[in-house]
Amino acid sequence: MNPTLRKPLIAGNWKMYKTVAEAVQTAKDLVQCTAGVDVDIMIAPPFTALAPVAEVVRGTSVALGGQNLFSKNDGAYTGEISPVMLADIGCRYVIIGHSERRQFFGDTDASVNAKIRAALNHRLIPVFCVGETDAQREAGETFSVLDKQVSKGLEGFSSEMLSNVIVIAYEPVWAIGTGKTATSDQIQEVHTFLRSLAEKRFDNLLAKTVKILYGGSVKPENVSEIMKLPDVDGALVGGASLSAEVFSKIIRFHH
Ligand code: 13P
Repeated sequence: MNPTLRKPLIAGNWKMYKTVAEAVQTAKDLVQCTAGVDVDIMIAPPFTALAPVAEVVRGTSVALGGQNLFSKNDGAYTGEISPVMLADIGCRYVIIGHSERRQFFGDTDASVNAKIRAALNHRLIPVFCVGETDAQREAGETFSVLDKQVSKGLEGFSSEMLSNVIVIAYEPVWAIGTGKTATSDQIQEVHTFLRSLAEKRFDNLLAKTVKILYGGSVKPENVSEIMKLPDVDGALVGGASLSAEVFSKIIRFHH
């Protein structure tokens, strides 16, 4: 982590969990537990809870994110949510290209690219997720998979459009929800690779400023070690973000 260039970001992806009442309570508890912490914090509740949670976090240091969007502003697209709607409700961030969306809901490198463009057009910070599967890692394809995801996902953008805006989240699919965290060496190796890829495909400014988060079974017990790695700027947390008490321990990783 390099806090002079990149302020740490700890993000919670609540996935398809929590009723409105549960989400509001967790958000209230989280605001209380994290007051005064000098770390960027984001939570991404399910769409149904965004509006009530927005009321809870307004004016606090907890920012709101969507878990997905569709790339059009409006139209006859049953079941979809647009960047206009997310911005309108008070989102600052939006998670894009999560492996669960790629795996179960047909997100592709091309649709992810369109979604990132839509987010940027509406001043939403994309949290752009990349990561290899177990089989891809076993086959020695980790770097080629990540290269393709990043290159296609960010095709057509300039460093100017992305610098100080986009966040990349490295989430090895085999570490998500499995309790199997990647080792420090594996994480640092990939984060260095992603940062050098930003330099190769764009420039030094993007490489220096892009926040690269790690995601996959992050817990209070392992967050400090992960956050010590020089190219890790934060965490994207699933299961352990559902409890305000547990998540706030992750947010206070340096204590
Ligand atoms: P877990 O923290 O539950 O492994 O989930 C990680 C994740 O997918 C966050 O987006």
